[in-house]
Amino acid sequence: MSSQTSGVRTSVRPVALVTGASAGIGEALARELAARGNDLVIVARDTGRLDALANQLHSAHGSEVEVIGADLVDPSQLAKVEARLADADRPLDIVVNNAGFGTVGEFHTLPIDGDEREIRLNVVALVRLTHAALGPMVVRGSGGILNVSSLAGFQPTARMATYGATKAFVSSFTQAVHEEVKGNGVQVTVLCPGFTRTEFQERAGVPASRLPDVAWQDAPEVAKAGLDALAKGAAVAVPGALNKVTAFMSDAMPSAITRRIAGTLAKLYEG
Ligand SMILES: NC(=O)c1ccc[n+]([C@@H]2O[C@H](COP(=O)([O-])OP(=O)(O)OC[C@H]3O[C@@H](n4cnc5c(N)ncnc54)[C@H](OP(=O)(O)O)[C@@H]3O)[C@@H](O)[C@H]2O)c1
Repeated sequence: MSSQTSGVRTSVRPVALVTGASAGIGEALARELAARGNDLVIVARDTGRLDALANQLHSAHGSEVEVIGADLVDPSQLAKVEARLADADRPLDIVVNNAGFGTVGEFHTLPIDGDEREIRLNVVALVRLTHAALGPMVVRGSGGILNVSSLAGFQPTARMATYGATKAFVSSFTQAVHEEVKGNGVQVTVLCPGFTRTEFQERAGVPASRLPDVAWQDAPEVAKAGLDALAKGAAVAVPGALNKVTAFMSDAMPSAITRRIAGTLAKLYEG
């Protein structure tokens, strides 16, 4: 794990931490937070990409950016990020738990170690970082946590069984914590994107897709929707009209139907 800071603090500005900021939705969240006047702590494994982003954000927006290189699947590296979150001398105003990945294919054919890493990143790291961030925020009576889930968490998702289950956990967990702290001055929101053009698909080994263009969103619009929802104190943010309809239908229909639809969509997604 490495840590470095770009820029010099010249004024008191809110500070936001984003995990998985080296690519995709996390990078877009970091860019949007900097544009909205935040200093940043950005976390991922690829410190080369994080350093380049830190320099860009400092040049473009004057943001002070701290870079933390950490593999959040590794308990000792995760513990260092937890310690940063709990550091009373350097409080954080916003924490975004965005880092995540998906394994795609029939569960029995997938290497089990990959699915275990997926649970460690998507669930264990998110829960531990939420815990580390939330205590100081509740004491202060201010702060916001945005946890990134997925539309895949709205129903069982064949061919992405572990991924969908991790995101169902994130959505349920985050909404429960939202209820616990509402009225304390602390906002806790879950962001549930649908198909979003990022490196997610390539990392999952599904670079091609037969899904139509209309099904896809770009990372910056997803990031803006998530931060707007957090600012409003919403419990759940589903970006995009089509995704909102899909989420509504998933909530309204029995899982015996939605799990079949999700499985069919997952086959199309694999291209
Ligand atoms: N794209 C979609 O269609 C979609 C839809 C719904 C929800 N989501 C969710 O959105 C979030 C962001 O995904 P994305 O689409 O932006 O994917 P992405 O482009 O692949 O970015 C994933 C980010 O997570 C980081 N990361 C991965 N493994 C990590 C680890 N072990 N430790 C620390 N950081 C790690 C990556 O950085 P390094 O490789 O540098 O570590 C990268 O910054 C995920 O939680 C994903 O489940 C995505």
